[in-house]
Amino acid sequence: MDSIISINGLVKRFGEKVAVNGLDLEIGRGELFGFLGPNGAGKTTTIRCISTLTNFDSGRIVVNGFDLRDDAKSAKECMGLIQQQVSLDKDLTIRENMISHAMYHMIGKRDRNRRIEELSEYFGLGEYLDKPVDSLSGGWKKRAAIVCAMLHEPDVLFLDEPTSGLDINARRLLWDVVTNLNKKGTTIILTTHYIEEAEALCDRVGIIDHGRMIALDTPEALCDSIGSIAVEYMENGRTHYEYFGTREDANAYVSSLNIDSDITIRRTSLEDVFVKLTGSSAEVLR
Ligand SMILES: Nc1ncnc2c1ncn2[C@@H]1O[C@H](COP(=O)(O)OP(=O)(O)OP(=O)(O)O)[C@@H](O)[C@H]1O
Ligand SMILES: [Mg+2]
Repeated sequence: MDSIISINGLVKRFGEKVAVNGLDLEIGRGELFGFLGPNGAGKTTTIRCISTLTNFDSGRIVVNGFDLRDDAKSAKECMGLIQQQVSLDKDLTIRENMISHAMYHMIGKRDRNRRIEELSEYFGLGEYLDKPVDSLSGGWKKRAAIVCAMLHEPDVLFLDEPTSGLDINARRLLWDVVTNLNKKGTTIILTTHYIEEAEALCDRVGIIDHGRMIALDTPEALCDSIGSIAVEYMENGRTHYEYFGTREDANAYVSSLNIDSDITIRRTSLEDVFVKLTGSSAEVLR
């Protein structure tokens, strides 16, 4: 694989807390990669380490051939980031925020104005461009942050839960932008708790838990890994899920069940994989 990002043994601690615990990951040039995991698993921290927003304790990160320890500045030039917590300057208007982003990345004035107009129109931001950041609702701020991150047309774009808080129109617009950018060659790394989004969009998916990568493959192969046929039924007020490699095995299991409720046989989804692999951490939270 022609890797645009190589991570070896990444460790990031916050005091006693080990947020990222020896993570290895290769992301291919042009890939649309889904980075999934339960709350607190270490996704945002990993993305912040790669995108040079925070330092790390040990390990090695190479982006587009630049080792972060040697040349973080060149690595940073290739990356754009849409953060989980929108980080726009509240004292500026939306347009001023975009201009300041463009200036940071040294985009010429004509290109800058063209890209601001195009992307803002696409995301329906036109009428808000000259309004102060704080006068916009959360979803509109997020749309503005998305435009900022895309202005310098980075080789790698990180989207950390880009669709949380977005209405369905904005979500669909964003997915079209992401798909089109990816088709043009941009590598996309996406975190989301909407697992079906990752399943539909991503070439490969990595699942992280307690700072470690616990599964990594195409959505289809991950589903096959637990059994591609799911049996779902309710017993004693609780839904049970069982997975099988073949429909015959699933049918045989269903015949052996002696219960009164409806039983569903269906294809295994990425959500099933996620819950099966990370369910024990969710149990702890409960
Ligand atoms: N600045 C910080 N100081 C202390 N602990 C932190 C800090 N940032 C993150 N953590 C801890 O590191 C762990 C990983 O957090 P992180 O934000 O990376 O998780 P996440 O996978 O992005 O979760 P979510 O799905 O909720 O966004 C958590 O236990 C979190 O409490
Ligand atoms: Mg996060």
